[in-house]
Amino acid sequence: MENLNLVSLPHFVSVENLSVEEVEALINRAEYFKNGGATPNLTEPICITNMFFEDSSRTHTSFEMAERKLGLTVIPFDPAHSSVNKGETLYDTSLIMEAVGVNIEVIRHSQNEYYQNLIRPQNHQHLDIGIINAGDGSGQHPSQCLLDMMTIHEHFKQFKGLKVAIVGDITNSRVAKSNMELLHRLGAEVYFSGPEYWYSKEFDKYGKYEELDKLIPEMDVMMLLRVQHERHSDDPNEKNFDAKAYHEKYGINKGRYKALKPNAIIMHPGPINHDVELSADLVESDKCMFTRQMQNGVFMRMAMIEAVLRGRKLGGLK
Ligand code: ASP
Ligand code: CP
Repeated sequence: MENLNLVSLPHFVSVENLSVEEVEALINRAEYFKNGGATPNLTEPICITNMFFEDSSRTHTSFEMAERKLGLTVIPFDPAHSSVNKGETLYDTSLIMEAVGVNIEVIRHSQNEYYQNLIRPQNHQHLDIGIINAGDGSGQHPSQCLLDMMTIHEHFKQFKGLKVAIVGDITNSRVAKSNMELLHRLGAEVYFSGPEYWYSKEFDKYGKYEELDKLIPEMDVMMLLRVQHERHSDDPNEKNFDAKAYHEKYGINKGRYKALKPNAIIMHPGPINHDVELSADLVESDKCMFTRQMQNGVFMRMAMIEAVLRGRKLGGLK
């Protein structure tokens, strides 16, 4: 059934400020779109642009699919061939977008919290454009987090008491940061595993670090993370990284797969490094939600964009 409790936000940059009710409403709305529910009737053309300063396959494609399904006009932007190469700042690029008539920017950027200056301009600055965060450095990845919540909800129908393990390069992963905080708040029991040098005591407030083989038979959800090599320029562990050794110690292989609970699921935000986090022949296995996560991403991103359209009263939405 259509959810009448719709979320309304001027920007969508983090999951940390969402209430549990808002998360539930977004999941309901995404499920409604997935089930073929009608998209809102927009009373004026709305323009959106996708600005990916870091590489992406699924987030970029999936935002664009969501935008087209909602009937928005997608304005192309390619950072590699833009005046960013002449030293233009992100703020100035956003000023251009606003000036030419773009209503919302979807941005991925390597700098943590790049959006602060865009959503709260300094004195004498007047930028006013909707920002949706498609991933900031090792900070937040709200759309990945919410599509993950939708996928868990679809399988288990609830979060309370679910045992979820987040495994891998936790320190450098924005997926881990977003998911640990929200899962904890939704009532899941969070556990962590992976190399101890990519774990930090600051995560103890959300869950408990354990050996992987202790977690395997007990977890409902195994959430695997890609090793974030691109964020390891100052990390001494990078030069000793051995993919085979990592797979043996922290990866899911056939033996560990067989030891999972019958109803357990494996999640991975992608891209997957085959035979590192997960055996290549398990990527499309029954328990692995990898493709389901990507499908759900389109519908969750529709719900997120709609929330910002409402929050900015665009297209006649309130
Ligand atoms: N694609 C996800 C991200 O951009 C996860 C990853 O790349 O490891 O954060
Ligand atoms: N999961 C994710 O964000 O994938 P991409 O980096 O390919 O967008």
